[in-house]
Amino acid sequence: MSAKRKVGVLISGRGSNLKSLIEACADANYPAEIVLVISNIADAGGLTHAANVGIPTKVIPHKSFASREAFDAAINAALHDAGVEIVCEAGFMRIHSEGFVDKWEGRIINIHPSLLPAFKGTHVHEQALAAGVKTSGCTVHFVAAEVDSGPIIAQSAVPVLDGDTPETLAARVLEEEHKLYPLALKLVIEGRVRF
Ligand code: GRF
Repeated sequence: MSAKRKVGVLISGRGSNLKSLIEACADANYPAEIVLVISNIADAGGLTHAANVGIPTKVIPHKSFASREAFDAAINAALHDAGVEIVCEAGFMRIHSEGFVDKWEGRIINIHPSLLPAFKGTHVHEQALAAGVKTSGCTVHFVAAEVDSGPIIAQSAVPVLDGDTPETLAARVLEEEHKLYPLALKLVIEGRVRF
């Protein structure tokens, strides 16, 4: 098998999607390895998933930077220093500057817990329940300048059940997220989906 592609993961919190990517990468036949995890939040739970398996982590607090551009420049430098080729955002709660998105175009992807283009932004499951949809799901997409709007790579659907709360729906969607993200990253690496 050819060399694994070097992936950097950006997180802000719990990191369950990061964990699913780490588990996928543990398979010798999976075409990626995670070489760096960056969090903008110092005590993000997800950092421990990386540390547990010896993946280098870096905390880059957005609050230490005067501008979005300066914060992104620090992230960009860390990704370059680690030799990152593809960036996966997994619950990363900052919006990037246009310059950063341009630099990584086609090489930065994100997971969102709805069937985009429906229900962008935050409080996604609340939005889905308020709209009364019978199906929801998750989307992995290329990151573009406009939030939650880049080209779609893959989606997975789940039913919305009577009596669902944002929490029960989130849990059902999250289970799919953990399967979809490794699959979508593989599709990108293998060139089967392009920006
Ligand atoms: C996920 O639902 C993801 O789709 C959204 O934020 C959540 C992050 O969860 N962007 P985790 O940190 O990966 O557990």
